[in-house]
Amino acid sequence: MKIIVITGASDGIGAEMARQLAQTHRAGVALVLAARNEAQLTQVAAQCAAHGAQTLVVKTDVSVESECRQLVAATLARFDRIDALINNAGMSAQALFEDVKAEDLAWYEQLMRINLWGSVWCTHAALPYLKQSRGSIVAVSSLAGLIGVPGRTAYSATKFAMTGFFEALRAELKATGVSVTTAYPGVVATQIRYRGFNAAGVAAGCQRPERRRCHER
Ligand SMILES: NC(=O)c1ccc[n+]([C@@H]2O[C@H](COP(=O)([O-])OP(=O)(O)OC[C@H]3O[C@@H](n4cnc5c(N)ncnc54)[C@H](OP(=O)(O)O)[C@@H]3O)[C@@H](O)[C@H]2O)c1
Repeated sequence: MKIIVITGASDGIGAEMARQLAQTHRAGVALVLAARNEAQLTQVAAQCAAHGAQTLVVKTDVSVESECRQLVAATLARFDRIDALINNAGMSAQALFEDVKAEDLAWYEQLMRINLWGSVWCTHAALPYLKQSRGSIVAVSSLAGLIGVPGRTAYSATKFAMTGFFEALRAELKATGVSVTTAYPGVVATQIRYRGFNAAGVAAGCQRPERRRCHER
């Protein structure tokens, strides 16, 4: 049985990856689902379990290093190995740099803690066990991790940083048998835009009336 850890598994791409992995591999997979919203993680776990997959929910804020390490510890305590780590947890942001006030600039750092450091901390904690299993590391970057466009200084900085980190790590780990794959999605229909930071560092919410459904979760 393959043990797969997915961060950001409570919604969006991460939750859908979990469901599709469960549907494809059924009893052949155990999914460790991590994010902050435990109630939503539990719902996703139930959907995966309905396909026969084993599941473990670990409430995790990836912007806190100790919680990333606890995620790996909880996985080992239950399953004793890790075959894959999918670093998918992330937040978005949309603001022109000149519109961000000095007193609000700290959210740039917070975004980096979630998107880059969350991936670095989870990967660091899991790496010894991924080497044992000759497993896989996946990083969910973005097209914004390959090209910078207006309004995306913060988000692009975090995703370019992920790109650089995981490209270098892939080369470092070549001889160990651990694979490193970076995904660069374009636009995917999730709620990420509405949860992302605006110039003041708060959730952007609905920008247009026809998108009122974005508040429903
Ligand atoms: N959707 C797109 O168009 C798109 C395009 C390119 C790349 N991406 C990338 O794809 C990944 C998933 O995005 P998505 O579209 O699925 O977004 P989403 O629907 O908003 O889901 C984001 C996931 O990340 C989790 N998350 C956010 N902050 C977290 C934190 N501090 N600690 C732990 N988990 C956290 C959320 O769970 P909780 O709120 O429960 O913690 C949620 O499960 C992100 O890395 C994003 O940058 C998305």
